[in-house]
Amino acid sequence: MEMGEVTEQGAEQVSMDMEDAVIRTENLSKTYKRWFRPGTCALNDLTITVPKGSIFGFLGPNGAGKTTTIKILMDLIKCTAGKAYVLGKPSYDVDVKAKIGFLPDSPAFSPQLTAYEFLNICAKLLRLPSEVRPGRIEEVLSDVKMADHARDKIGSFSRGMLQRVGVAQALLNKPELLILDEPLLGLDPFGRQEFKNIILSQRERGTSVFFSSHILSDVEEICDRIAILNKGRLLCTGRLDELLSANGATVTIAPGHDDILKDLITTASGTSRQPDGAWVLNFEHLESVKPRLDELAGSFPEAVKVSAGHEKLEDFFFRCLENDRSKAAMDDEAK
Ligand SMILES: Nc1ncnc2c1ncn2[C@@H]1O[C@H](COP(=O)(O)OP(=O)(O)O)[C@@H](O)[C@H]1O
Ligand SMILES: [Mg+2]
Repeated sequence: MEMGEVTEQGAEQVSMDMEDAVIRTENLSKTYKRWFRPGTCALNDLTITVPKGSIFGFLGPNGAGKTTTIKILMDLIKCTAGKAYVLGKPSYDVDVKAKIGFLPDSPAFSPQLTAYEFLNICAKLLRLPSEVRPGRIEEVLSDVKMADHARDKIGSFSRGMLQRVGVAQALLNKPELLILDEPLLGLDPFGRQEFKNIILSQRERGTSVFFSSHILSDVEEICDRIAILNKGRLLCTGRLDELLSANGATVTIAPGHDDILKDLITTASGTSRQPDGAWVLNFEHLESVKPRLDELAGSFPEAVKVSAGHEKLEDFFFRCLENDRSKAAMDDEAK
């Protein structure tokens, strides 16, 4: 079966076999019911595809609907409409659970247990045979660089160590797919680096990873695909390199060329001035200004430098949210 992936950028239409997708949602919606009041629409018509082998960043501000989506994928809550498939099966299929590793957004650990004892309970719940349990626990603890703390009580662990125990728990069953809700939250830069290394080494073993995050620089570093969600709606999804490079150009104008500056500044989406007096102008859509830029760069090669804009994920993210906000404001005005 051919599946399409649609971005709001309009252009991308990726065909993908269902078998190649580790996660697929189709028009997924969730409204939380409330007594005697209208419900909260937490998720509205979400269609995304996570291909096998990818590291997929699921992004959006607080309240965007990320945890809601993840809970539906894990079958912890039911959707109101639409479909969710995990590893090719409906998300409520119990057999699929054995192939997923899951880290919830605020995992609770019993502080009295040692890391080993906690993982042993998890391994029993996963029905790992007793003869393989000790070896597997040692393995996952070493995967997350916690082998030296196996016999330490969880109550003595830092936030980063707790997160690593959480990831170790998710790795116990050698999952085909890791689903992690805000795994970077509360980690210091060192902890985040370690986490990124763990994720990258998992991918090398063929595990696909789907995780939600706010920390855009880290997402940019390790993810090959993203989706951005706002107020329950998908703003865009696709390959990170395509989303970022499809956008814009950066033009540097040398000091003393105010005529060129005046010519371009009205169509620029952003401007900044360098300490030496040069101006840097950003353009969202290269196509619309390209002929004029080429002309100027031809006539004043020393004064005008044009470089393809590889936008930072952070800028792209805020621009998506800003566009969405102004669209919503225009829709309100039209009413
Ligand atoms: N159990 C719930 N009951 C009612 N509303 C909820 C519940 N869980 C989440 N919400 C609401 O749904 C929206 C999306 O929440 P959530 O999925 O937790 O977002 P995120 O994880 O992106 O921060 C928010 O408006 C939130 O208040
Ligand atoms: Mg959340």
